[in-house]
Amino acid sequence: MDAPEILTEIIKRRKTEKVMCEAGSSINVAADIDKRNQIIVRDAVETAGWAPFHYNRGLDDIAEPWRAHVLWQDELIKLEDYFRNELKVTNKELDLIAGCNALVLVTWLPEFYSEPCRENSSRSREYQISRDEEHLAATAAMVQNLLLLLTAHDMGTYWSSGFKLREPAVLETLGIATEERFIAALFIEYPEANNDNAIRKAGNQRGNRSDKWIREVST
Ligand SMILES: Cc1cc2nc3c(=O)[nH]c(=O)nc-3n(C[C@H](O)[C@H](O)[C@H](O)COP(=O)(O)O)c2cc1C
Repeated sequence: MDAPEILTEIIKRRKTEKVMCEAGSSINVAADIDKRNQIIVRDAVETAGWAPFHYNRGLDDIAEPWRAHVLWQDELIKLEDYFRNELKVTNKELDLIAGCNALVLVTWLPEFYSEPCRENSSRSREYQISRDEEHLAATAAMVQNLLLLLTAHDMGTYWSSGFKLREPAVLETLGIATEERFIAALFIEYPEANNDNAIRKAGNQRGNRSDKWIREVST
């Protein structure tokens, strides 16, 4: 296959896989497999950051408008414990945490989200909104890059809105700054996970695709 064919194949192969395991049974792949996959995921996150972004966000001397917070196996076990014992979560959120091998929480950094920031700026409200929209759009491009790279490595992925993970108390526990806005909880399953007892669900919109949204302009 040539490069366009490979890229097309990966884009179409990517699909949502919600992997749910019984809480308390967090997948533990062997340490060497875990280590190898951590390197792949870490590299993929870095490469995903080659997504386009329009403005230098400039927070903490970082131009990119996004942040990625990565949780490996040990932290996932602690997270599951925190959800179960402190937040008293009993639903599928626990099973999703138990069913993944790594979790990447992606946030973006609006500039004009808070009222003081809006009011202290000389920019029009229209400009403020479009600038923030472009920070968000760039972050979504970064997330899709990451999904494609992980798919190319035969990893299972699920982009979730984050349910309880996006709640302020959880973000604080995970050391995520309050000015960050949550966009994705990306659940990752390693190819070697061998997770036979897991319940797997597809994305709700998977079968709803068409090409009717394309319009070739002729005036
Ligand atoms: C911004 C965003 C948020 C999403 N949040 C959720 C979610 O909270 N729960 C869920 O079941 N799927 C979520 N999804 C995944 C979609 O349901 C999924 O992409 C869609 O059903 C199409 O399926 P596919 O990814 O297999 O093509 C989200 C996708 C995006 C882009």
